[in-house]
Amino acid sequence: MVARPPLRVAVEPMALDDLPAIQAIERAAFSAPWPANAYKTELETNKLAHYMVIRVGDEIAGFAGLWLMVDEAHVTTFAIAPAWRRNHLGERLLIALLDIALDRRATEATLEVRLSNLPARRLYEKFGFRPVGIRPRYYSDNNEDALIMTTEPLRSPEMTARLVERRAALAAGPDPVRLARPATGTDRGG
Ligand SMILES: CC(C)(COP(=O)(O)OP(=O)(O)OC[C@H]1O[C@@H](n2cnc3c(N)ncnc32)[C@H](O)[C@@H]1OP(=O)(O)O)[C@@H](O)C(=O)NCCC(=O)NCCS
Repeated sequence: MVARPPLRVAVEPMALDDLPAIQAIERAAFSAPWPANAYKTELETNKLAHYMVIRVGDEIAGFAGLWLMVDEAHVTTFAIAPAWRRNHLGERLLIALLDIALDRRATEATLEVRLSNLPARRLYEKFGFRPVGIRPRYYSDNNEDALIMTTEPLRSPEMTARLVERRAALAAGPDPVRLARPATGTDRGG
């Protein structure tokens, strides 16, 4: 039997043509999705913003955004399509965001995440994000508190070692597998 060629996984800047696929993932991933024109406005007008997509072959499997504000990189959105979860694509996307932050000389990365969103919290913890505070009733759909998470300094030896280790593990890992019947799961209730 002839071996299948490996699936190409690539993280690339988001483009306007990607927005229909982004909207579909947004609705599947978030209990309070951004409105349809929000990403278009961000792409066209926000000079601080960097939006990325992760593709498996030709399919967009997830996306994420970062605002670079002086020396802080703030993760604004982050989602993997249900069919592609638990393939370490979230890790690859997060590494790409941290690479942008490092490249632009940010000193730390921050984000907000729902307290109940344990899958996302575990992902961020794996990359050195730690809880530093609470924004009470931050999410207006259910008044849930946000946990504020921040990395240790991005150029610290610990962070550098973590990124080296995770990159090597991902490079040696298996190809992603698309789930035929994915369990749905939003940022509220995983
Ligand atoms: C959170 C999310 C982005 C994770 O994406 P993913 O590609 O499935 O995550 P990965 O496969 O890269 O997982 C990396 C690590 O995160 C943690 N993790 C991911 N999903 C998890 C789950 N369902 N339960 C527990 N831990 C989980 C694990 O530590 C995992 O490492 P491991 O597989 O070696 O145990 C995805 O579940 C998602 O899009 N959720 C809905 C939207 C959302 O919550 N976005 C974040 C908003 S702040």
